[in-house]
Amino acid sequence: MESPHAVLLVALIVTFFIIYLAQAEDQEGFISVDCGLSPSEVSPYIEPDTGLRFSSDSGFIQSGKIGRIDKSLEAMSLKSYMTLRYFPDGIRNCYNLSVKQGTNYLMRATVQYGNYDGLKIYPKFDLYIGANFWVTLDLGDVDIENGMVEEIIYIPRSNSLDVCLVKTGSSTPFLSVLELRPLANDTYITDSGSLKNFRRYFLSNSDSIIAYPEDPHDRIWESTFEPEWKQISTTLEANNSNGFLVPQDVLKNAAIPANASAPLSFTEELDSPNDEIYIYLHFSEVQSLRANESREFDILWGGEVIYKLRPKYLKTTTVYSTGSLTCQGGECHLELKRTKNSTLPPLLTAIEIYTVVKLPQLETNENDVVAIKDIKATYGLNRITWQGDPCVPQKFLWDGLDCNSTDTFTLPKITSLNLSSNSLTGTVAAGIQNLTHLEKLDLSNNNLTGGIPEFLANMKSLLFINLSKNNLNGSIPQALLNREKEGLKLSVDGEHRCFSGSCVSVTNKKKFPVMIVALVSSAVVVIVVVLVLIFVFKKKKPSNLEAVPPSSNTPRANVTHTGISDTSIETKKKKFSYSEVIKMTKNLQRPLGEGGFGVVYHGNINGSLQVAVKLLSQSSTQGYKEFKAEVELLLRVHHINLVNLVGYCDEGDHLALIYEYMSNRDLKHHLSGKHSGSVLKWSTRLQIAVDAALGLEYLHAGCQPTMVHRDVKSTNILLDERFTAKIADFGLSRSFQFGDESHVSTVVAGTPGYLDPEYYRTGRLAEMSDVYSFGIVLLEMITNQRVIDQSREKSHITDWMAFMLNRGDITRIMDPNLQGDYNSRSVWRTLELAMSCANPSSEKRPSMSQVVIELKECLSPENSVRNKNQDMDSHSSLELSMSFDTKAVPSAR
Ligand SMILES: *[C@@H]1O[C@H](CO)[C@@H](O)[C@H](O)[C@H]1NC(C)=O
Ligand SMILES: *[C@@H]1O[C@H](CO)[C@@H](O)[C@H](O)[C@H]1NC(C)=O
Ligand SMILES: *[C@@H]1O[C@H](CO)[C@@H](O)[C@H](O)[C@H]1NC(C)=O
Ligand SMILES: *[C@@H]1O[C@H](CO)[C@@H](O)[C@H](O)[C@H]1NC(C)=O
Ligand SMILES: *[C@@H]1O[C@H](CO)[C@@H](O)[C@H](O)[C@H]1NC(C)=O
Ligand SMILES: *[C@@H]1O[C@H](CO)[C@@H](O)[C@H](O)[C@H]1NC(C)=O
Ligand SMILES: *[C@@H]1O[C@H](CO)[C@@H](O)[C@H](O)[C@H]1NC(C)=O
Ligand SMILES: *[C@@H]1O[C@H](CO)[C@@H](O)[C@H](O)[C@H]1NC(C)=O
Ligand SMILES: *[C@@H]1O[C@H](CO)[C@@H](O)[C@H](O)[C@H]1NC(C)=O
Repeated sequence: MESPHAVLLVALIVTFFIIYLAQAEDQEGFISVDCGLSPSEVSPYIEPDTGLRFSSDSGFIQSGKIGRIDKSLEAMSLKSYMTLRYFPDGIRNCYNLSVKQGTNYLMRATVQYGNYDGLKIYPKFDLYIGANFWVTLDLGDVDIENGMVEEIIYIPRSNSLDVCLVKTGSSTPFLSVLELRPLANDTYITDSGSLKNFRRYFLSNSDSIIAYPEDPHDRIWESTFEPEWKQISTTLEANNSNGFLVPQDVLKNAAIPANASAPLSFTEELDSPNDEIYIYLHFSEVQSLRANESREFDILWGGEVIYKLRPKYLKTTTVYSTGSLTCQGGECHLELKRTKNSTLPPLLTAIEIYTVVKLPQLETNENDVVAIKDIKATYGLNRITWQGDPCVPQKFLWDGLDCNSTDTFTLPKITSLNLSSNSLTGTVAAGIQNLTHLEKLDLSNNNLTGGIPEFLANMKSLLFINLSKNNLNGSIPQALLNREKEGLKLSVDGEHRCFSGSCVSVTNKKKFPVMIVALVSSAVVVIVVVLVLIFVFKKKKPSNLEAVPPSSNTPRANVTHTGISDTSIETKKKKFSYSEVIKMTKNLQRPLGEGGFGVVYHGNINGSLQVAVKLLSQSSTQGYKEFKAEVELLLRVHHINLVNLVGYCDEGDHLALIYEYMSNRDLKHHLSGKHSGSVLKWSTRLQIAVDAALGLEYLHAGCQPTMVHRDVKSTNILLDERFTAKIADFGLSRSFQFGDESHVSTVVAGTPGYLDPEYYRTGRLAEMSDVYSFGIVLLEMITNQRVIDQSREKSHITDWMAFMLNRGDITRIMDPNLQGDYNSRSVWRTLELAMSCANPSSEKRPSMSQVVIELKECLSPENSVRNKNQDMDSHSSLELSMSFDTKAVPSAR
C-alpha cells in the first residue's frame, strides 16, 4: 500500500470513537456534505458516531445519481459513508461550495466504494479543485469494506469553490463525503502551492484515531508506534494554544527511544522522489522534570541539525518548515538526538508531513464566473458541461463559451457566449452585462421576450450580437444603434429596425384619415403663403451628409404628425449666429464630408441635438437671395422621410445650413458592406425603400408647391439611428407650381446612371424622372450591383437586369450578401416594380404614390413571415391594396 494514510479504516472509526454529542456551534465554518443522502432523509443531521452535522449534497450539485453501499457493510460504516453519489454521465462533474475567500481550509474527500453497484469494479478517477488537478483516486488497492480519504489544505481564491470528479477511464467516479474545515489563518502556510496530507501521526501505542471533536479542526490523527520506542504519558491537560491547536488526547502521549542513549528516528518514503514537503513536529513534555534533569535534543533532517529544542512541560511547541524541503532520493530521514547536557532522551508527540501540490492554473475571472453562473441560473440551464470553472482547463471548457486564456499570468475571461437554440425563455438576462470581456453574444433562435436591453450598448468589448429569431419586441435602443455605427455587428429581426417611423404612420394614416387630410390642407395653405421663390442651390456633388436627425430625445412624433410646424415659433429658433455655429461645431472640429458647395461638419446643439452643418463656400452660393429663399422653403418642408433642416446661419459672408444628423450614413454605404461589414437584411432594405418612397411621394404630391428632387440616388438616401430612411440633398430640387405645365429646366442635372433617359433627351423635368431614379435605387438594393459598370457585359444596371432576367436566375441577380435570406415572392414583386419604375417611357412608370403602395405590399409578406405571432400591421397589406389607384392624398408627416 503506497500511502497507508489514504486508507482509512472505516471500521476502526466506529470502533474507537466514543459517541460525542457535539453542539452545532462548535462546528463553525465546517462544511460537511453527505453525498447521495436520500431525499427522504432529514438534512442536516448529526452523525451519531462523530457528532458532525452533515447536509445532503443535493444543494451543491445538479448531476449524478444516488448509490448506497452493500447492506452487509452498513453495520460497520459511519452513516455518512453509507450513501454516495456517482457520475455515469459527463466527463467532469463538480460540487459547487460556498466558501470564504482567503480562508485556509482543510478539505477532505472520502470515498467508500462498498460495492454500491454490485460490479466489484474498483473505480479510478481524478479529483480537481476548480481548474486544477488535485489527485487521482485509485481504489484498486483498497479492500471493499474500507474507504479512502484525501486531504488538502487549500485557500480558495473566491467565495465559491468547485470540487470536480473527472472520469479518466471507463470506471464511474463517485464520492461519499466532502468536508471543509477552516484552519487558523497563520498555520500551514506555504510559499506556493497547497499542502496535500501525506502523514499525520500521533505517537501512541493505543491504536486509535483522533478527530473531531477532540480536534477542533477535525484533522484526523492516526496513532503509530514502533517497537524501538517507549511510550510516556500524562493524564494532565497541556496548554495547546499555539495556533495549531493539537488535540489534548494527542498531547497526553509521547514516544522516546527505548534505548535512552539512541536517537529517535523516522524514515518515510515519498510517493514521488521529487516531491517537496512541509513537516510539522509537535512536542509537549509529559514528564515533570526534577531540578537535576533535563531533556534537550537536536532535530536533524537528512542528517543535518535544523533545530535544538527543550520541550516545555504541558505546553505545545510546534517545529515546522517555513519553506519546502526535499528528501534525497525520496527517502526522508528525521532524527532527534539528545544533546550532551541532556539527562533524558528525546521525545516526540506528533508529526505531520505534507507534500506540496502546485495548483498553477489560474481560474476564470471571478466576476465572469459569478455572471455566467447567474445566467445559468436565470435560464435554468442544465448542461452537463456547465460545471466547474467555465474556461479552464481548456479540455473542459463549457460548451457555448469561448475564453481568452492565452497566457498564464492573466485570469481567463469569457469572450464568447453562444446560447443559440436553447429554448431560452424570459428576457435577455441582465447578468450578461457582467461578462465584461464578452465580444460575441449569440442568443438567436430562442423564445426570448421583452425588449432589446440598452445595457448591451454599455458592454464595451462587444463586437457581435445576434438576437434574431426570438419573440423580442420594441425597437433597438438608441445607444445600441450608436454602437452599431461604431462597428458593432447587430443581428436582430427586421421589425425592430422598422420601428415607429413608417410602420406607425401607416397605422395612423388608416385610423385617422380625416385628421391627416385636415392637417395637410392647412399645411398647404401655410406653404402657399410663405413660399417666396424658386431658387437653385447649385452643387454638382452629392452631399456627403452623413448624419441623422434630431437627437434621440426629440420624440419623432413631434415632427411627424403635426405636418408643418408653427412657423413663427420655428423661424425664431432656427436662425443661428456664426459664433453659435462655431460653438456647435467645436470650432469646425469634425468634418463629415465635402460637397461641391463646401464642407459638412458635425455639430451639437445644447449638447444634445446632433446636427450636420453645411458651411457654404462663397463660390458655391448663388447669391444671398436664393439662399434665403431656399432656407425659407426648406424650413417649411417637414416630413419624416426628408432630412430636416434644423436651422441656418446668415451672418455677413457666413452662410450655413444646419441639418439633422443622420448617424447611419447612407444606403449606398450600407449596401457596399463598408458599414462594419454588417449586411442590411432584405426586410430592412424594403423598409428603407418604403421610407424613401414616402419622402418622394410627399415632394411630388404632398407639399405645396410640389417639387421634383432631381437627384434621387442611393447616396442621397440617408439613414438615421433607427434606420429610418430620409431623402437628402435638395440642392438640386426645384419647386414648381402645382398645375403649372412648364416643368422645364434648362440645365440637365443629376447623376449619371440615375438620370431619366427621357429627361436627358428632352430636358423636360417631371416627377416621373424621380420615379426612374428611384427604380434604379431599387435595383441597387436588390442586386448590390454598380449602376454603371463598364466591366460588365451590360454596363447599365437596367440592361444588365434585363439580360439576367432572361436567364431567369434569381439567385445570380440577388445581392450575394443576403445569403439567400429573403422571401422570393417579395423580391420578385420588388423587382417588377423596379423595372416598371425604370421604364424608358415615362408614361409607363407608376407614380410615387403607387410605388409606396406596391412596396408596402412587398414588405408585408416579409413581415408576416417574421412576425407570425405579432399583430403588427401584417394584415394591412390587404387594406392597402384595396386603396390602390384611388390616389390617396399623401400626407405630410
Ligand atoms: C453554487 O453554489 C451557490 C451556493 O452554494 C449557489 O448559490 C449557486 O447557485 C451554485 N451555482 C451553481 C452553478 O450551481
Ligand atoms: C488572521 O485572522 C485574524 C483574526 O481572525 C486577523 O486579525 C488577521 O489579520 C488574519 N491574518 C491574515 C494573514 O489573514
Ligand atoms: C497558554 O500559553 C499562552 C502563552 O504561551 C498563555 O498566554 C496562555 O495564558 C496559556 N493558557 C493557559 C490556559 O495557561
Ligand atoms: C543503545 O544505543 C547506543 C547508541 O546508539 C548503543 O551504543 C547501544 O549499543 C545501545 N544499547 C542497546 C542495548 O541496544
Ligand atoms: C537527580 O537527583 C535525584 C535525587 O534528587 C537522584 O535520585 C537522581 O539520581 C539524580 N539524577 C541525576 C541524573 O543526577
Ligand atoms: C551544558 O552544560 C554545561 C556544563 O554543565 C553548561 O555550561 C552549559 O551551559 C550547558 N548547555 C546548555 C545549553 O544548557
Ligand atoms: C486575449 O487577451 C490578450 C491580452 O489580454 C489579447 O492580446 C488577445 O488579443 C486576446 N485574445 C483573444 C482571442 O481575445
Ligand atoms: C418556443 O416555444 C414554443 C412553445 O411555447 C415551442 O413550440 C417552440 O419550439 C419554441 N421555440 C424555440 C426556438 O425554442
Ligand atoms: C453584476 O455584478 C455586480 C457586482 O459584481 C452585482 O452587484 C450586480 O447585481 C450584477 N448584476 C447582475 C445583473 O447580475
